[in-house]
Amino acid sequence: MFEYAKPISAPSAIRGCPRFIVRTDIDKKVTKASLRITSFGVYAAYLDGARIGRFELAPGWTCYAMRLQVQRYGIDPALFCPGRHELAVDVAGGWYSGTIARGRIPEDPRPALVAELKLNFEDDTTCVIATDSGWMVRESQTTYADIYHGEHFDATLTDCPETQAEERDFRLKKRCIDQEGPDVVRMEELKPVKCFVTPKGERVLDFGQEITGYVQMRLKNASAGQVIRLTCCEMLDRDGNFYNENYRSARSEMVYTCKDGSQEWHPTLTYYGFRYIRVEGLDDIDPEDFTGVVLSSEMQRTGFISTPNPKLNKLCENIVWSQKCNFLDIPTDCPQRDERLGWTGDAQVFMNTACYQFNAKKFFTKWLSDMVVEQRYKGSVPLVIPSVEKFDEKTPHVRTSAGWGDAAVICPWELYRHYGDGKLLRSHYQMIMRWISFVESTTTVPGLWIGYEGNYGDWLGLDAEEGSYTGASRKDFIASAFYYHALMLAAEVARAINRPEVEIEPIVYKARDTRKLFNLRFPDTDYRTQTEYAVSLCFGLPEDKEMADDAWLLAKLVRENGYHLTTGFLGTPYLLYALSRNGQTETAYSLLLQEDYPSWLYEVNQGATTVWEHWDGKKPDGTFWSADMNSFNHYAYGSVAGWLFEEAGGITPYEPGFKVVKIDPRPDPRLSGFRAELITDYGRVVSSWRYVNGEPEFCIENEMPAYVMTGVRGRMMHPGKYIFTK
Ligand code: BGC
Repeated sequence: MFEYAKPISAPSAIRGCPRFIVRTDIDKKVTKASLRITSFGVYAAYLDGARIGRFELAPGWTCYAMRLQVQRYGIDPALFCPGRHELAVDVAGGWYSGTIARGRIPEDPRPALVAELKLNFEDDTTCVIATDSGWMVRESQTTYADIYHGEHFDATLTDCPETQAEERDFRLKKRCIDQEGPDVVRMEELKPVKCFVTPKGERVLDFGQEITGYVQMRLKNASAGQVIRLTCCEMLDRDGNFYNENYRSARSEMVYTCKDGSQEWHPTLTYYGFRYIRVEGLDDIDPEDFTGVVLSSEMQRTGFISTPNPKLNKLCENIVWSQKCNFLDIPTDCPQRDERLGWTGDAQVFMNTACYQFNAKKFFTKWLSDMVVEQRYKGSVPLVIPSVEKFDEKTPHVRTSAGWGDAAVICPWELYRHYGDGKLLRSHYQMIMRWISFVESTTTVPGLWIGYEGNYGDWLGLDAEEGSYTGASRKDFIASAFYYHALMLAAEVARAINRPEVEIEPIVYKARDTRKLFNLRFPDTDYRTQTEYAVSLCFGLPEDKEMADDAWLLAKLVRENGYHLTTGFLGTPYLLYALSRNGQTETAYSLLLQEDYPSWLYEVNQGATTVWEHWDGKKPDGTFWSADMNSFNHYAYGSVAGWLFEEAGGITPYEPGFKVVKIDPRPDPRLSGFRAELITDYGRVVSSWRYVNGEPEFCIENEMPAYVMTGVRGRMMHPGKYIFTK
């Protein structure tokens, strides 16, 4: 990958983020120029002061011990006109050695740069300028950068002395890989909708939308040494004051020291999650001088929902925003507090929705490659990917949980269902089987998953005991149900990738036994919570003849609770499916359209612009749930959008990758109309319905070569537009 480059760091005496510099004199015509570059840390590269490439926070976050993505940028050769040119690269610790890296912060935390600039000349000669101790380095104007705490920039800091860079002895050959994920790019820009003074007297900008990215600021007339401090928050408190306690230890600041005159600045080596910005150090604030820049992994939007209910539409919009905000190179739990980690459980429950809303194939392919290398030899899968626990290949297993480690099975399967790439699925098969054997090695009761300490249960379920994060559903119940689900999926995977029958059969038998054991140990007559019903029904655990009755009992439970849910992270994604797929569609819609706390639309009524971590993140009286675990931008409960595409709109892949689409909508008169649109690799489909004289009328627009419809008509339909009643 690199022919000559050596990793280089700044001598320890250099403070802040180092700027690496190399200069070259050009005296003949350059016909081609390209830069191959990566870093242990995050970098921003400049040619003669102009930023190279669009990738923000490159090289992205991977399991650096095993995989380091390398970027290649083609550079316009005309930029290398005769004369002296300077390539400069700022590097910060980022995910490699910043606070976020936790147990992985290396003993020597200095970030390092690896780069090769290749120039081709008109006389057919080439020249490669590669990082080594011949490069110079100095303190950059970015005096501090950390993913959690933010960036400090000092525009007065000029003419810092340069010194020689130091070579490091990282092994590159084994870990450098071509970039696998999409670029993280500037997606859009927002202007503040309001600038106001809070009751406490603080001046705050409101961007009207929670975003992930940073603030770009223009100053018309500043004086040298003036310090401007911007601090982020998501919510105002009950009195309308700036509230950032829920960021916990993350300072999330932009601190800018001005030079004289007019200037423009934005952070480059970190990111933030915010809706409001507190501005300090500026006498007159012109909101026009501030821009909220949205950063996200570049993905094509593929799914669109619209309904006659503005609140439901707002919920859908919020779910899309939570995806954009939390798909920043890896799927994160939240973009703001001192977490922003690739929580496997969260990603697993949201992935189906994510793949409807955007084409997330590349994004998840990269993340799953990291999961493969992070899996321990006994098969356990870390809670977050990339892991932030010390990387040690010899550790047999790391902390994990049912529903989190299960991402190793569910995510490859979702990727296959949505994009139909059998080769990829094949590359995940071993990981799937090893996770299953991990479960089997930690249970006290063979055939089920019992007694494993690490299980979280139904995280944040509302039926939790006071002060607990764990819902009332039995942990062993959930763990055993997920084990069964994993076995069933493993069998499907094995079939899909054409494993021999002798390999598939034992998995199927095992699953059969597990279902029997499960029903003995957890008979449906004793299901206790909405989550227990939901998970069990969706995984197909009850006896076939009991499914409808169990769904009826679940509906009863929901009704007795005033059509309110009590489910947490693991139950919520399945709740509406468990109802609508088993004859209780009406109750599913009652939950969907519920506006009182707790419900999806409650948050919308409270002014949410993204999906909340807690059903009661902000209570009806305006107080907050608690500061220690209260994000307003957690996509997990946004998994309901998957249900809107798959059940309300009825669009599912009949063949993997939507080669053939199945359309089987489930209407409800309380929502007088509905429209779901999906752009697949094979074309566009729209499924919509509306009520005419009390009866549903369906409309299917098909731009695909063919698809199957069941439920409505049960036959193949060719491209065209069809309107019909049931
Ligand atoms: C994260 C979650 C995660 C959970 C599991 C939280 O701190 O934000 O989303 O799944 O921990 O324990």
